[in-house]
Amino acid sequence: MKKVLTVLLVLVMAMSLFAGCGSDGRDENETVKVGILQLMEHPSLNTIRESIIEGLAESGYVDGENMTIDYQNGQNDMTIMKTAAQTFVANECDVIIAIATPAAQAVLSETTEIPIVFAAVTDPVDAGLVDSLEQPGGNVTGTSDEVSAEMIMNLAEEITPGFKTIGALYSSGEDNSASVIAGLKKYASSKGYEVVESAVTNSSEVQQAAQYLADKVDVVYSPIDNTVASAMAVATEVFNGQKIPFYVSADSMVADGGLATYGIDYTVLGKETGKMVAQVLGGESPADIPVKKMSDMSVYINQKTADAIGVEFPQAVLDRAQVLGE
Ligand code: TRP
Repeated sequence: MKKVLTVLLVLVMAMSLFAGCGSDGRDENETVKVGILQLMEHPSLNTIRESIIEGLAESGYVDGENMTIDYQNGQNDMTIMKTAAQTFVANECDVIIAIATPAAQAVLSETTEIPIVFAAVTDPVDAGLVDSLEQPGGNVTGTSDEVSAEMIMNLAEEITPGFKTIGALYSSGEDNSASVIAGLKKYASSKGYEVVESAVTNSSEVQQAAQYLADKVDVVYSPIDNTVASAMAVATEVFNGQKIPFYVSADSMVADGGLATYGIDYTVLGKETGKMVAQVLGGESPADIPVKKMSDMSVYINQKTADAIGVEFPQAVLDRAQVLGE
């Protein structure tokens, strides 16, 4: 009798796993519940989210058919993200997708049991999300968009040689930017360049921080920083107005007016993330799925920005670049 009761209890518990996460109750036994927390809305993160959903569809999980998605925009606000993460946990999502570093950190601090798949986390170890890229260990895995400040600055030397001072525009609250800025400083000191930093805490400070740098430096560099990415319009107005080459770290930031970058394709990253989510939904443990880094990188340039600031791309750059922002 006791055994039967236990079995019943386990069954009831198992069934309750399929409910919730913003469930509207359809197909309770077949539908998986997925929570998506996106740090904020800016072009790159939106592309990533759309591509994750495509990657899931390619793996057999179709939104509105056998999967329900509860999407939450974190609005770059830790309090909003904490609440969203708590809701996903209370609703017993089958998996939680976190887009960008602070979103992944917010979700991980609410659950060490529900599987979490992160997307586009620049440095997952430094951000405290996984023990190692090869063996994440806990309930978390995902994709990384690691960037090399050195490779982007090598491109800067090719496009606008002769600079001596580099402005660094980034957000002090983003761990994803911190490790890239450390790399920038290392590169600069090996080359004898001076780095002038201007850190912001939110996007409303970007204009003033950009102005401060524009008066002081030869070129500006921004890491893969969400706060800067969401304020590209004001940043490029300052830099392009003062003819300062503005090197960035993502294709979307070039499309939004940055001069150039060397980086990954975020539609590929999003699809890969979607496939990892499907693996987890199929029963694999995040602990055993290595973090995936994107290997294909391209040069992205903005011809309009170059024209506006009087820069001519060398033929060798034009030959291998993708032109954005047309
Ligand atoms: N890598 C960033 C992070 O870890 C997120 C990100 C993805 C991003 N694409 C971007 C930031 C484009 C700036 C621009 O949080």
